[in-house]
Amino acid sequence: MPSLSVMKVLLKELTTNEQVPRVPEPTLVMDDIDQVEAYTRAGRENGVMAPVYLFHAMQICQIILPGDHVLDLACGPANQLCMIARLNPDCQFTGVDLSPNMLNQARALAASMGLANVKFVAGSITELSEFGDASIDCIMSTMALHHLPNVDALRCTLKESARVLKHEGGLYLADFGRLKRRDSIDYFANQYKDRQHPLFTLDYLNSLHAAFTLQDYEQACEDAFGHRAKVFSTWKVPYMLTTRTPARRELPQQLTEALKAIHADLPDYHKRDFADLKTFFNLGGVKTPALG
Ligand SMILES: C[S@@+](CC[C@H](N)C(=O)[O-])C[C@H]1O[C@@H](n2cnc3c(N)ncnc32)[C@H](O)[C@@H]1O
Repeated sequence: MPSLSVMKVLLKELTTNEQVPRVPEPTLVMDDIDQVEAYTRAGRENGVMAPVYLFHAMQICQIILPGDHVLDLACGPANQLCMIARLNPDCQFTGVDLSPNMLNQARALAASMGLANVKFVAGSITELSEFGDASIDCIMSTMALHHLPNVDALRCTLKESARVLKHEGGLYLADFGRLKRRDSIDYFANQYKDRQHPLFTLDYLNSLHAAFTLQDYEQACEDAFGHRAKVFSTWKVPYMLTTRTPARRELPQQLTEALKAIHADLPDYHKRDFADLKTFFNLGGVKTPALG
């Protein structure tokens, strides 16, 4: 059950006439060494991103099939990518990002985890020119597309994704949705400020202001994928969105057990966040495999 203060914020979102305008990220490509470090840490050692990464990992594992080549758009430090690559050792993963410092973090993480099925490529996700038409089995992206400068770049990225993805391939793009009220954005950005680096709090604030709306995603998804993919959001208040194809498999037992073990290791406060995310996405039509 979400906390009372979260419920209050969501209720105000539902009843407001406000809609804050989009403010693009001040740093589209994240290459400042301190910012990269703060972001990387927030996704490791049970950082604030841990429940979000676990939730998306559970979803992404359902759209990956053994033997797939999976592309991660704007992989950043690869916290999400390496988690999924370890869970799916029979697949090949390629992370794409424009930031050399992010890619350094990503390569170091993959090496420290001993992952032989991951590689990284420097490039822009708006033009995936080094990947051929219908050459990729699965495309994933988490918490990254709001770094694009405008809706045209979002459309362009989804069109490129549709071009390189095989017709029966899997797609899972997750990102923030733009909240309506400035106060809601401030609330969520600062919710865990005591548990995270101030640069990450600032980063999160900027991300929420730069987020695209549900309508932006729906339009871009329809233009690029037609009926092949659909946009889902957290129920009623689209603060998180996923543009995706249906699941391509039920999770095998071994994978379910591995995901359960990651969940079991989360501290209680992260388990609560995970449960909230799961509840709001489930109500929005995204089913999550059982954990218990
Ligand atoms: C907030 S991070 C998300 C990283 C990762 N996907 C995750 O879930 O932790 C956003 C990333 O997008 C990258 N980025 C921004 N614009 C890009 C572009 N046009 N092409 C490739 N990467 C881009 C940034 O460098 C940064 O690493």
